[in-house]
Amino acid sequence: MAETERDEISGQATTGHEWDGIKELDSPLPRWWLMVMYACIVWGVAYWVLYPAWPLMSGYTKGVLGYSSRGEVAADIAAANDARKVFADRIAEADMATIRKDQKLMEFALAGGKSAYGDNCAGCHGGAAQGGKGYPNLSDDDWLWGGSLEAIQQTIQFGIRSGHDETRLSEMPAFGRDELLEKKQIAQVAQYVLSLSGKATDEAAAKLGAPVFAEQCVDCHGKNGKGNRELGSPNLADAIWLYGSDANAIRTMITDSRKGVMPHWQGRLPDVTIKQLAIYIHSLGGGE
Ligand code: HEC
Ligand code: HEC
Repeated sequence: MAETERDEISGQATTGHEWDGIKELDSPLPRWWLMVMYACIVWGVAYWVLYPAWPLMSGYTKGVLGYSSRGEVAADIAAANDARKVFADRIAEADMATIRKDQKLMEFALAGGKSAYGDNCAGCHGGAAQGGKGYPNLSDDDWLWGGSLEAIQQTIQFGIRSGHDETRLSEMPAFGRDELLEKKQIAQVAQYVLSLSGKATDEAAAKLGAPVFAEQCVDCHGKNGKGNRELGSPNLADAIWLYGSDANAIRTMITDSRKGVMPHWQGRLPDVTIKQLAIYIHSLGGGE
């Protein structure tokens, strides 16, 4: 039997392996390392026993604690739904003024309104409610039909020219197509409309357009072209245009008219969601 060979310098036993004169020492593993390994083994075995661990032919070992992460998620979701229902019920019952006074309710309404806006409205009104041609900006304080909470809620509920029995409804005549005005008169009244915001390019024509406006347009757009919310007729004297601000766009509007359609949402979204949407839109900056 060969005796254990010891390294001359460290006094440590060698494994007997040698490479080109270099010998491998047979050092024991550090104690701390071993302790950690044993602790891991103990922890691992305990985990197998307590928690779901091993796959079987069908199913898996469930562990004595009966824990399931899916069960935990389901419980969380149920708890969140309960909490949400409490808020949703309170919003459904409360009037707008009460909701606005209650910070928690407001937060809940705004969050719900924002997500419903993204799902249902952003396609037409834009991601930031900035609007686009034919689709009004909902974040400014220029309103066709009104910017109070109640007015906004009504617009969302019943829509505009939506076909709903209670829809907001008004129709500007197609003055050119239906031959109510001649081409020349349309050009003149278009210049008059531009003059309301100081943008007329032909003052003489604008002057001739004034009586046409007084006769044909004031009933809906008001004496100074400031619009009328009862009829959803826009203010023509400001810098905000639904269909374009140049003479061409205005002539086209007077000639052919346009009947922007906003769908109704009552019956398609829960009443609570419509309320949340109204509060959200109202909060965007233009609420009255
Ligand atoms: C299919 C396109 C479309 C969708 C979708 C749509 N809208 Fe509209 N909305 C319009 C149009 C067009 C108008 C302007 C109608 C008009 O010319 O009077 C309008 C007008 C409005 C107004 C009135 C603005 C004012 O100045 O008085 C509000 C408020 C409004 N929409 C909110 C919403 C909300 C909230 C949603 C989502 C639930 C939504 N809209 C979805 C097309 C849409
Ligand atoms: C029966 C009411 C009514 C009458 C009369 C009427 N309008 Fe209008 N007008 C409207 C409505 C409502 C709109 C908005 C249409 C829409 O949103 O689709 C509108 C829109 C406009 C617009 C587009 C504004 C924008 O922001 O792009 C112009 C321009 C306009 N009208 C000019 C006139 C002129 C000029 C006359 C007279 C020759 C006239 N309107 C008569 C109801 C009327």
